[in-house]
Amino acid sequence: MHMHSAVDMIYPLILSGILLHITGVECYTGWSNPTLTVKTGGSVTIPCHYDEKYTQQKKFLFSGTDKSNTFTNTTEENLSVIDHPDQSLFTVTIRNLQNKDTGNYYCVVETGEQPPIKMIYEPYLKIQSAPDVSVVNSSVSGHEGGDISVQCFYSPRYQDTLKQWCRYKDKMCYTVGRTNTFQNSSVQISDDGRGSFTVLMTGLRLTDSGWYYCSAGDTLNPVQLTVNEAEPGTVNDKVWHMERFCLAHN
Ligand SMILES: *[C@@H]1O[C@H](CO)[C@@H](O)[C@H](O)[C@H]1NC(C)=O
Ligand SMILES: *[C@@H]1O[C@H](CO)[C@@H](O)[C@H](O)[C@H]1NC(C)=O
Ligand SMILES: *[C@@H]1O[C@H](CO)[C@@H](O)[C@H](O)[C@H]1NC(C)=O
Repeated sequence: MHMHSAVDMIYPLILSGILLHITGVECYTGWSNPTLTVKTGGSVTIPCHYDEKYTQQKKFLFSGTDKSNTFTNTTEENLSVIDHPDQSLFTVTIRNLQNKDTGNYYCVVETGEQPPIKMIYEPYLKIQSAPDVSVVNSSVSGHEGGDISVQCFYSPRYQDTLKQWCRYKDKMCYTVGRTNTFQNSSVQISDDGRGSFTVLMTGLRLTDSGWYYCSAGDTLNPVQLTVNEAEPGTVNDKVWHMERFCLAHN
């Protein structure tokens, strides 16, 4: 009974959050509110990382544009929400994006504790004919010990903004033109100053696999990196499945 009343409170909570956003009041602190830009007619996959302790809990996407919830492991024509408990994340893939899909999206976990829900990621999707920030491939793969590079494009008005390559899992970022103490020489990032910057990761390790994003200012694009085992001829079934998943959604 208590669970039900708690869950019933979720949706008004989210709605009031949206209303507060509309009126310009920031009611949730400590979240970044990234903008993801996607080309009209295109698709996007958004990773929603959650704390390991929520592996067994229900998770869903709340769409601010049509005020609907979609729970994990749902696949529809234009929307898939898939849990990956082994990676402590769920992915949201939205296809055939149109201008009307521009708006806020909320990745939510039912915590089973107080407070009953937790917003774990709150991206603002902006559908544009020429996206402000984009990548050619939102899925890249390499081999252990090998290299990958990702080119991130930005529109002219983002010329003078901060350009970064960040890992979602631990929020570690590499910044153009900066030598942060935690910056490893295995990641190089260079801006051509003419609309794109390139991230080069060398000496890949299996643990480099995961979700990253490239950003210019507050606008970003997610990129999934898959690092395959080095031994030639060995097939890692799991990686193969992930690649299939990505190909199917690009
Ligand atoms: C999927 O998106 C396309 C393009 O916007 C639309 O024509 C179609 O009706 C959508 N499908 C569903 C099930 O909403
Ligand atoms: C969702 O699917 C994943 C595999 O893709 C599975 O591990 C997980 O248990 C499923 N979750 C639910 C609630 O069915
Ligand atoms: C940088 O290198 C250190 C030491 O090898 C490692 O612990 C750390 O995870 C690396 N950082 C990244 C982002 O790969």
